[in-house]
Amino acid sequence: MSKTKRDTAGKRGSRIFSFSLIALAVVAGLVAAMWSWMEPVDEAHASGPSAAQTEQLPEITVYKSPTCGCCTDWEVYLEKEGFKVISHKRSNMDSIKKELGVKSHLASCHTGVIDGYVIEGHVPADDIRRLLRDRPKVAGLTAPGMPQHSPGMQPPGEQPRGYNVLMFDKEGRTRVYTRY
Ligand code: CU
Ligand code: CU
Repeated sequence: MSKTKRDTAGKRGSRIFSFSLIALAVVAGLVAAMWSWMEPVDEAHASGPSAAQTEQLPEITVYKSPTCGCCTDWEVYLEKEGFKVISHKRSNMDSIKKELGVKSHLASCHTGVIDGYVIEGHVPADDIRRLLRDRPKVAGLTAPGMPQHSPGMQPPGEQPRGYNVLMFDKEGRTRVYTRY
């Protein structure tokens, strides 16, 4: 083989090599994209930041009594879920609830307000996100009482179970929003 022929062959070889590199990169990119499409929609249940957090969430104002530990745990949970929590310690929780239309059969410990909706008690972040997305004509959501297996009540990372989150209106009428 003459020198020029060898050079040409070498050039062709390196061109083929770089083409196959590009092709590999494209295939890898496609596989990565497909992989992300195939991820379960339900990933909000995973602990730590989730894709749902890429939506801009409005901040939530939370009123709680100064001594409420599970209230603080619920706030910490919400922050992990990507919410900005503005927390107020208040000793007049009864009058705050009354003002916000949380009747006694709907009441829990803390009371939150987000984008015009009332969030009463240990409501999971998924429900709040869904509420803000669907915007039903209700006053808010509540998890009445103090459900044992709810965020803020159970160890972080555990799934909520054994209770219902309710929608409620100004008259105090309720409908089940989510069963856990
Ligand atoms: Cu509580
Ligand atoms: Cu609370």
